[in-house]
Amino acid sequence: MRVLTGITPSGALHIGNYFGAMRPAIEMQKDGNAFYFIADYHSMTVITDAGKRRELSLGIALDWLACGLDPKQCVFWRQSDVPEVVELTWLIGSLTPMGLLERAHSYKDKLAKGIAPNFGLFAYPVLMAADILLYDTNVVPVGKDQKQHIEMTRDIAIKFNQNYGDTFVVPEPEIRQEVAVVPGLDGQKMSKSYGNTVEIFGDEKAMRKKIMSIVMDSRTPAEPKPDADRNLAIQLLKLLAPEEVSADFENRLRAGGLGYGDLKKALFAHYWEYFREARQRRAELAANLDYVHQVLADGANRARQVAGPVLQRARRNCGLE
Ligand code: ADP
Ligand code: TRP
Repeated sequence: MRVLTGITPSGALHIGNYFGAMRPAIEMQKDGNAFYFIADYHSMTVITDAGKRRELSLGIALDWLACGLDPKQCVFWRQSDVPEVVELTWLIGSLTPMGLLERAHSYKDKLAKGIAPNFGLFAYPVLMAADILLYDTNVVPVGKDQKQHIEMTRDIAIKFNQNYGDTFVVPEPEIRQEVAVVPGLDGQKMSKSYGNTVEIFGDEKAMRKKIMSIVMDSRTPAEPKPDADRNLAIQLLKLLAPEEVSADFENRLRAGGLGYGDLKKALFAHYWEYFREARQRRAELAANLDYVHQVLADGANRARQVAGPVLQRARRNCGLE
């Protein structure tokens, strides 16, 4: 069974990405069944600076490897190193109705925000379908926001199979229901677009300042706080500290006597500790970029061994060979 997912390089990763997407993906890798790629073609509609794209793609590779992605247990590559996906985009795009793409939530949201649409933005779900179909993928683990894109992929695969004969595996989505939405520093969902993030690999001083500046209510330290479980620092501590530690802080907050400053100090300390090893590994990887480039090159070779025959099957079935 093949599992595949893409990671768009669009900015520094935060702990919402970590607990919501990276940790589950890292836990799922085993015996080379997992295919994970850096979706740099997808970043073209968002980032239009070449240097920035290179920097972000490499940064994301470092982040994932530092957090525990194991190139022996999975196939990890940069999307554009297997350009076969672009040819497949054309083959399947030629059977994709305009109406299907016009109904895409992500496209409609971007139009509503006033973003000037271009071909890439409109065709994005077709490229994503090609990403999935090119590797005979069975299961695609994604966040809720990507569900519609997987449904479109299924529609496109079924239509192609009906028209040209059995060609593609029809994939299933795996929506991570059990992963709670990690709250950001302002209490909304943590997201790059809200500027409320705790970066995984942020600078120590800046991160301490960010965490110490979380705004809380004006109750005095002595006051008991029956709503302690809804406190943002407690919620984040539950992800970052051992259970007995977060439970102890929650109890002390509930009983009264724990000040918010002390709570935030503890939150920073546990956050910093939680990613200590990953931070060290990231620094080692950054000092050994040849290794990282080698990992991506090996990944691309292995990905291509799967992609080549699938593309050939598609070309043959639609009469290009
Ligand atoms: P952002 O909202 O910061 O732009 P993305 O949309 O790039 O994040 O999300 C990448 C992955 O991380 C997705 O799988 C998404 O479900 C997950 N993710 C993002 N933010 C959170 C969050 N606050 N809590 C849980 N998972 C998240
Ligand atoms: N569109 C996805 C996102 O924004 C990333 C992605 C690109 C992807 N291609 C994919 C995810 C293929 C799963 C499968 O998060």
